[in-house]
Amino acid sequence: MNEAVDITKYGNKSFVRASLGMQFENMPDYEGYLREAGEEIPWTVSTRGTHQPENLPLAYEYYLDAKYVPEEIEKIWKKQWQVACRAEDIPNVGDRVSYEVGPLSFLVVRSGENTFKAFWNSCRHRARRLCGDTPESGDVIQCPFHAWSYGLDGKLIWVPREEEFPSVQVGVIGLRPVQCDTWGGNVFINPDLSAPSLKDAMGVMPDHFKDCPLEDRYTAVRLKKKVRINWKSGMEAFLEGYHVLTTHPSGMPMFGSTYTQHDCWDDGVAAVSRLITPALVPDGWVKDEVSPRLALELFCNTYLLPPPPEGRGATVADAREFAAGEMARKLGEAYGVDFSNRSISYLVDMHQWYMFPAFYPWWGEGLSWWYNFTPLGESPDESIMEIRWLLPKQTDGSAPPVPETVWVDFDEQGRDYPETGQAGFLMDEDMSNMEEVHRGMKATDPSVARPVLATYQEIRVRHFHEAYMRAMGIKG
Ligand code: FES
Ligand SMILES: [Fe+2]
Repeated sequence: MNEAVDITKYGNKSFVRASLGMQFENMPDYEGYLREAGEEIPWTVSTRGTHQPENLPLAYEYYLDAKYVPEEIEKIWKKQWQVACRAEDIPNVGDRVSYEVGPLSFLVVRSGENTFKAFWNSCRHRARRLCGDTPESGDVIQCPFHAWSYGLDGKLIWVPREEEFPSVQVGVIGLRPVQCDTWGGNVFINPDLSAPSLKDAMGVMPDHFKDCPLEDRYTAVRLKKKVRINWKSGMEAFLEGYHVLTTHPSGMPMFGSTYTQHDCWDDGVAAVSRLITPALVPDGWVKDEVSPRLALELFCNTYLLPPPPEGRGATVADAREFAAGEMARKLGEAYGVDFSNRSISYLVDMHQWYMFPAFYPWWGEGLSWWYNFTPLGESPDESIMEIRWLLPKQTDGSAPPVPETVWVDFDEQGRDYPETGQAGFLMDEDMSNMEEVHRGMKATDPSVARPVLATYQEIRVRHFHEAYMRAMGIKG
């Protein structure tokens, strides 16, 4: 590197204190940056959100009071589309997994080559959970308690001592189905049989992902972390870039969180939103100290790209062009996919989407993740964060098998599991706040027990609150 820099100085207490009082004027926006740099602007970027959420911040009692948990189960988890697994988790006909959300459990099975079905994960005899915590396989779903057996279509096919169950019609009754559909290699369920379709619930999202088919990716890392927070504060922590200054100090020299673009769409059924943060654009907080060249060196180092030659990275535009070219080359070599016609924005920037209540896919190659938070059991104080790192499949569609899920317990950290790599590292940074947020909510003076939300930087949190209140039937 040409310039020595201690990136740990950014975002630490003394750095933040030195920034005290600093404000920005005329902060350029993301699209403006691309235009200024003369870059191709993907249509997805210039297609802006059409929804302006209301400013009705959700009171903390909804995060803390156990009385709302059963209500959320009825009005959200039994009513909304939610991602249950990835198709590659159950690659062969007969493979099945359970999807747990709060106290609910669903069985998701690959019922045919390209078909999936999902059921309430409960035996029709005396309710034993049929699929356990580890994946199962086989063309018969047999209950381990008394051997009632079901086909992959859920139909009951055998009841031992059938003559003793005169009311049971073998071949007619069966497991109780829930809606099941796929998008982008993800298998979704909705327990509400009369709910609008998955397509309706996704709104504009599938259209935007046409050029970024998530079904062409596979799970390279899968991690589940138990956290002592309400699932909603987990969601919110990923809906804005306003926390970067103090939470992700090492990212500031190479990711311009202050230029993040936010967009919301909502037609009354689909509540979706997106943020885009540019890479290789030093954050507004450090822009006077970090040159584009240094941002480029750090980016290449982080993304395991070769160090840039002398002379590259003199401008932001050149740094982005070099990094995108190297990224396309590296991905092309690794996966045999031609990335040369992809925009710089697609290759290096962070495009994070969100669909209510719990699905975050990422567009492009900047950070190709998928994650969500769901409640754990019936406590408002515990949830599970799930992260998957999704890499491109080879051009012939091949990919390594799904790795075993890494479970990270309450008091463990991602860094205790080196195989989780960057996912584990970033998770740790975000976790440093989340449990303290939950404790802080409990410590709030009851007369001011709701957040104050920024007009733009936190617009997606406002939207989340709006969608939540609509689902729960809360008026203001
Ligand atoms: S509970 Fe399933 S067979 Fe008895
Ligand atoms: Fe974060």
